[in-house]
Amino acid sequence: MKVIIDSRENIAKLAAKQYIELLAKKPNAVLGHATGSTPLDLYAELVKLCKEGWISYKDVTSFNLDEYVGLDGSHDQSYRYFMNENLFNHIDIDKAKTFVPSGIDTSAAAVAAYDKAIEAAGGIDLQLLGIGENGHIGFNEPDTPFGSLTHMVELTESTRKANSRLFAGGIDEVPTHAVTMGVKTVMNAKSIILMATGPKKAPIMKEVLEGPVTEHVPASVLQLHPSVTIYMDYEAAAQLSK
Ligand code: F6R
Repeated sequence: MKVIIDSRENIAKLAAKQYIELLAKKPNAVLGHATGSTPLDLYAELVKLCKEGWISYKDVTSFNLDEYVGLDGSHDQSYRYFMNENLFNHIDIDKAKTFVPSGIDTSAAAVAAYDKAIEAAGGIDLQLLGIGENGHIGFNEPDTPFGSLTHMVELTESTRKANSRLFAGGIDEVPTHAVTMGVKTVMNAKSIILMATGPKKAPIMKEVLEGPVTEHVPASVLQLHPSVTIYMDYEAAAQLSK
C-alpha cells in the first residue's frame, strides 16, 4: 500500500491527480465512487478540473458503492441525490452511465445484477473509498465475509448514529438497511483509493494499517490488494506509530 499523509486540502489535490492520470490514459475508465463527507473536497477539485478542461468524464462509467434501502433518488439523503449534487450535475458525464444500487428494488435479482453490470462494463479501474469509524468500507460492517458480493445489510447502531448528523429528523430517520457492494466487489477493482480525514478516523486507521487482516476490521483487507493508495490528513494519521 502506498500511504500519503498531507493536509486535508492537499490530499484532495493529490488524489485528483490520480484521476487526471487515469483518465488521460483511459478516457473510458470505469470509476467506483463513494459518498460521505470525506470525498467532498476531492469531488469539488474534480469538478473544477473538468470545468477547466483538464479532465473529461464523457466516456466514463460510474458505479457507486452503496445506497440506503427505502430512499429513492429524489430523497435528499439518498446517495444517488448526493452524487448528482456533488459530482454528476457538474461534470460532463453521461448520467445513463452512472449507476447506484437501487434502494427501492432490493430483490435478490436486482442486487445480483449490480455485480453483473460491473463485470459487463469491464470491471472497476479505480474504486474510491471512505472509511467508517468501525472500519467499514461501503456499508460492509465489521465481520462481513471478505468473499461477499453486492448484498443487503443491516446498518450498525454506530453507523446510523454517525450518519444521523445529515438527517433533519435525527437517528430515527436514518434507514436501518442499505445495499452495498461487497468486500470482494471492492477488492476486484484494479486500483483503490482510500481517503481518511479528521481525528475520529485516527484509531481505525492505525488498525487498518498496523493491525492484522481481519474481517472484524473490513478495511484491513486492503493490505492484501496489489494497488491501493491511502490518502490521510495529519489528524487521521495521528496514531500511526511508523
Ligand atoms: C459511503 C460509504 C461509507 C463512507 C464512510 C465514511 O458511500 O460507503 O463507507 O465512506 O461511512 O463516511 P464519511 O466520509 O462521511 O466519514
